[in-house]
Amino acid sequence: MGNCLVSPSSRVENAHITQHASYPSKGTSKTNLSSVPSTLRTYSTPSTLTMPSYTERTSNESLPTPRTEGEILSSSNLKAFTFNDLKNATRNFRLDSLLGEGGFGYVYKGWIDEQSLTASRPGAGMVVAVKKLKQEGFQGHKEWLTEVNYLGQLHHPNLVKLIGYCSEGDNRLLAYEFMSKGSLENHLFRRGAQPLPWATRIKVAIGAARGLSFLHDAESQVIYRDVKASNILLDSEFNAKLSDFGLAKAGPTGDRTHVSTQVMGTHGYAAPEYIATGRLSAKADVYSFGVVLLELLSGRRALDKTRVGIEQSLADWAKPYLGDKRKIYRIMDSRLEGRYPKKGAQGVATLALQCICREAKLRPRMSAVLAMLEQLHDPKNTAVVQPQTDRWKASSTIPRSPIKHHNSPRRLTTGRSSLPSYQRSPWVH
Ligand SMILES: Nc1ncnc2c1ncn2[C@@H]1O[C@H](COP(=O)(O)OP(=O)(O)OP(=O)(O)O)[C@@H](O)[C@H]1O
Ligand SMILES: [Mg+2]
Repeated sequence: MGNCLVSPSSRVENAHITQHASYPSKGTSKTNLSSVPSTLRTYSTPSTLTMPSYTERTSNESLPTPRTEGEILSSSNLKAFTFNDLKNATRNFRLDSLLGEGGFGYVYKGWIDEQSLTASRPGAGMVVAVKKLKQEGFQGHKEWLTEVNYLGQLHHPNLVKLIGYCSEGDNRLLAYEFMSKGSLENHLFRRGAQPLPWATRIKVAIGAARGLSFLHDAESQVIYRDVKASNILLDSEFNAKLSDFGLAKAGPTGDRTHVSTQVMGTHGYAAPEYIATGRLSAKADVYSFGVVLLELLSGRRALDKTRVGIEQSLADWAKPYLGDKRKIYRIMDSRLEGRYPKKGAQGVATLALQCICREAKLRPRMSAVLAMLEQLHDPKNTAVVQPQTDRWKASSTIPRSPIKHHNSPRRLTTGRSSLPSYQRSPWVH
């Protein structure tokens, strides 16, 4: 822990990363970095389009088997939609069906018949979110296929459900279950959003931690590689689900501690050792999750270019306050107006500090993070203590930085588990 406190965290700007502006519209917000965390993407074309396959079925399978695109698409239980199916389901991708925009493309709300999975009238049948790839070229297709590969096989209440896909000509689309409360990013940072109460923040953190633990502890480990507030989606009861598996990667096998790979991810969330070396382990996800915990505590973005100096990086700015219980109130989200249990906040801050430790080995495993969060969520630890002293009151009067609600157009709207805690969850579906 001492190490975690004294080491300055490295900045992504120093890393040997290519920032690529290949997404025309969201690409603008990603590369000008006004306040949006930018996605670090390096592009090089792998020689083959094969993907590791994952199964949760048996206990002895360890090495992922490379699969071809044809195998991935034909073996999944996903619906193969025609372009017309999804066009009709979203009423021709109408602007008023638009839910948001990401690096991959635009996301639309649509309706399909539950039985036949064909397009249905708006308001009738099942609501879906349809993501339409806007970027042409290999990288977009690769991420689309990676997502189909993983989400076609991995099923868990804290992973978003992929219903089907479309591959027709140059069109690449994905249809997911609709998450009515949108992304965590929307709730934490969108102008005018109701502040999330403390208990909901912990609930969301537990849901995301449960999804990550499931991936890390799967028979063949999966490293998610894109943990961030915008990829944590929320259903009507604020159950959190991880979405966007386009960057997911098979974890190391045998005695290996890491896999070497292109550096992909998002500024502000990516682990320093991964940025510096391209060596990826599940502990990189733990680091990013720690940054999300900081966002939940502080209501500040992982990276905010509108701030000055060290305050631009949430991890760098918050670190000195996290281990000192007399100082934690200084980083707490003023929108909570002091309505959070002091011990609970200290516990989350300590956990976040461990997760963002520079030394990857010293970071806890996600299963330990989950256990800790569950403990903090225990009713006897969640009683909200109304601020009584002046110092705690001060948390609601700390000037909140102008949030830096950036103007990204995407913000238009809002198996078998190997985890022992899975069945204990009070909010598993
Ligand atoms: N299944 C879904 N249900 C409801 N809304 C969704 C769903 N998937 C995505 N969205 C909405 O669409 C927005 C864009 O999502 P998308 O994953 O494309 O981009 P992002 O995560 O914001 O950015 P990036 O491409 O950098 O990961 C999300 O923030 C969310 O509001
Ligand atoms: Mg996303």
